[in-house]
Amino acid sequence: MKALILSGGRGTRLKPLTNTIAKQLLPVANKPILHYVMEQVAETGIKDIGVIISPETGDKIKEALGDGDRWNTHITFITQPQPLGLAHAVKTARDFLGDSPFLMFLGDNLIQGGIADFVAEFEKHRPSALVLLKEVPDPRLFGVAELDGSGKVVRLVEKPKEPRSNLALVGIYLFSSEIHQAIEQISPSWRGELEITDAIQRLLDDGKTIHTHILKGWWLDTGKKDDLLEANRVVLDDLLRRDIKGEVDEHSQVIGRVNVGEGTRVENSTIRGPVAIAHSCLIKDSYIGPFTSIGAGTTIENSSIEHSVILEGCSVCHIERLADSIIGRSARVLKQGRGFKAVKLFIGDDTEIVL
Ligand code: TTP
Repeated sequence: MKALILSGGRGTRLKPLTNTIAKQLLPVANKPILHYVMEQVAETGIKDIGVIISPETGDKIKEALGDGDRWNTHITFITQPQPLGLAHAVKTARDFLGDSPFLMFLGDNLIQGGIADFVAEFEKHRPSALVLLKEVPDPRLFGVAELDGSGKVVRLVEKPKEPRSNLALVGIYLFSSEIHQAIEQISPSWRGELEITDAIQRLLDDGKTIHTHILKGWWLDTGKKDDLLEANRVVLDDLLRRDIKGEVDEHSQVIGRVNVGEGTRVENSTIRGPVAIAHSCLIKDSYIGPFTSIGAGTTIENSSIEHSVILEGCSVCHIERLADSIIGRSARVLKQGRGFKAVKLFIGDDTEIVL
């Protein structure tokens, strides 16, 4: 059994962050999403992992994963020249995959509890494909599966205008080598991509067995701003443990599940968990509220922040209330003295400011 992790793509919906960072390396609770993915793949016992990268962000992904040793695995990097769809990524990895069955995992997806059980289920029954499904409020945004009364999948449609079920395809799939033949037979969709949903539909049309598993726990697809905030909220809520390595002075209060990294100083501030603060930060005269992650080397002074993700090396000073925000690396958010009414901006491309 091999694994294929998809870490290419454009990341358009997460601009401007993805102008400089690969979407799969954005942090959730101060850890790159792709590291959670690696942990979940490694847990299944699969050692031989292919990682699809793009020419633009491939080097950063290589740097973040190394040769896979950290997870006791071996990684082969495969460059996809253009993001022409999930099935195109599989096609690009054909030499690496050979005739092996494989686990395919989208590098920006996370699920609760890991995937070892699904891999074991697939290995026991050896269907042509096993797909994970999750009930979602608005299935029009996803690949959607239609099941018959006995739970057998009868049809799969990518982003249907009128969905016939609320079961979305989660970005984690198990395939036998038959998927390669199916991919050979499909053509690009209206959006110009070779869709994996169409390839699985092709397997169905050829009378192959597709097993499904309906996911009960959370599924996070970190494709856009609100998804990233939600992923941060869910992971902090579910996985964070209290661990204070930095210094907290006697005028500060640290309440609940809070992580304070080495070399971080908390002075005259209140931190109410779940909150993750990385190493080498300064939190002074401030309030940090629930569901906030703060990257390494950031300074927060005389401010109040909650439900936000602040990346590395930022400064937030004299801001009364910052909420539901994502702040990119080395950004500065400052307020001038009283009486100064104008808004002064020096911001990069694709930025959104809501005042
Ligand atoms: P998407 O989120 O569907 O695509 P994207 O990254 O291009 O994002 P956007 O729509 O915002 O531009 O991709 C899901 C995952 O699969 C993501 O981790 C990127 C990866 N991917 C590839 O590796 N190759 C591809 O050709 C595509 C389309 C995606």
